[in-house]
Amino acid sequence: MSSSLVLAIETSCDETAAALADESGRPIASKVASQIQLHAPYGGVVPELASRNHSLDLRPLVEATFAEAECGPGDLAIVAATSGPGLASSLLVGDTFAKALAVGLGKPFFSINHLEGHLLSPFLHPFRPVEPHVALVVSGGHTLLVDVEGVGRYRLLGSTKDDAAGEAFDKVGKLLGLPYPGGPVVARLAETGRRDAFEFPRSMLRSGDLDFSFSGLKTSARYAIERLGHVPEGAELTDFCASFEEAVVDVLVSKLLAACLGSGRRLAAVSGGVSCNRRLRLRIAEEGARADVEILLAAPAYSTDNAAMIAFAAARRREAGIAPSPLDGDIDPNWRIA
Ligand code: KG4
Ligand code: ZN
Repeated sequence: MSSSLVLAIETSCDETAAALADESGRPIASKVASQIQLHAPYGGVVPELASRNHSLDLRPLVEATFAEAECGPGDLAIVAATSGPGLASSLLVGDTFAKALAVGLGKPFFSINHLEGHLLSPFLHPFRPVEPHVALVVSGGHTLLVDVEGVGRYRLLGSTKDDAAGEAFDKVGKLLGLPYPGGPVVARLAETGRRDAFEFPRSMLRSGDLDFSFSGLKTSARYAIERLGHVPEGAELTDFCASFEEAVVDVLVSKLLAACLGSGRRLAAVSGGVSCNRRLRLRIAEEGARADVEILLAAPAYSTDNAAMIAFAAARRREAGIAPSPLDGDIDPNWRIA
């Protein structure tokens, strides 16, 4: 194999991830070591535990990624890492590892914004060129609408004023006594529930802008439990989850389509952990078709945190003629995409 591969490292939160891609960003091997079980007893990510485990897991994970692709460091053309946003101590592990490798090999280093990784991930599988579009990024830490002119050319259209959509799912999961992270569990329970059983607010649905707010919905879920006088179980629980999920989905779908209408874009791409949500995928596909907007959904394997999306972003940036990053650059836990 010639020296043409991209190695990317992702350690922004609680997943240690490494991936190899070809020079155009097509994934060759992608591995994720999840720390979810480790943080579950605490009901959320413990930064100190996360960074310690990134340090332990990263090197074996990178070696396993090379082994799966049957290649080694000599096959690399560039090295990339997520440098923000995320937990400072976690970001430092992956960013420093990748820079050290780049120096050792004498190869360019690309510092990648985690949100850019998510945002471009719908173009990764099935693989296709990045065209102008509206991107909806919905994860545990972020809820953003971005107008994408091309790789590296982003304009923020709207974002959450408080909680992210995934955070709302996780917090409601916690209120319901469900295991961490609540998002996938609430979504599974919602599948058999009635979506109109509980009345939950659609915050900022008619605010006239493209911003979001989910903290009112979370509070309203807490009041609903207080009114019931007990944590719902059985059919009441599935109804609760379905009604809550519908409230989140209604707002996300409606703001995404409003963003497309306002910007005149006919293509929309949806990514981030919450884009795994089946109800969201279904509703966006249905309503996109009705509004004549083509919808690209990140493949579930590339929706939650992974390094293949970071490798893809690095390859696309390089192809777009964007210069590599300085080796003395810092991580940025609050790095904004636009
Ligand atoms: O993108 P991600 O892996 O990490 C961040 O960058 O935040 O997203 C994780 C978030 C968590 O809040 C998780 O509960 C949520 O995505 N999530 C879901 C589903 N699967 C993951 N939320 C709703 N429905 C799902 N099926
Ligand atoms: Zn993420």
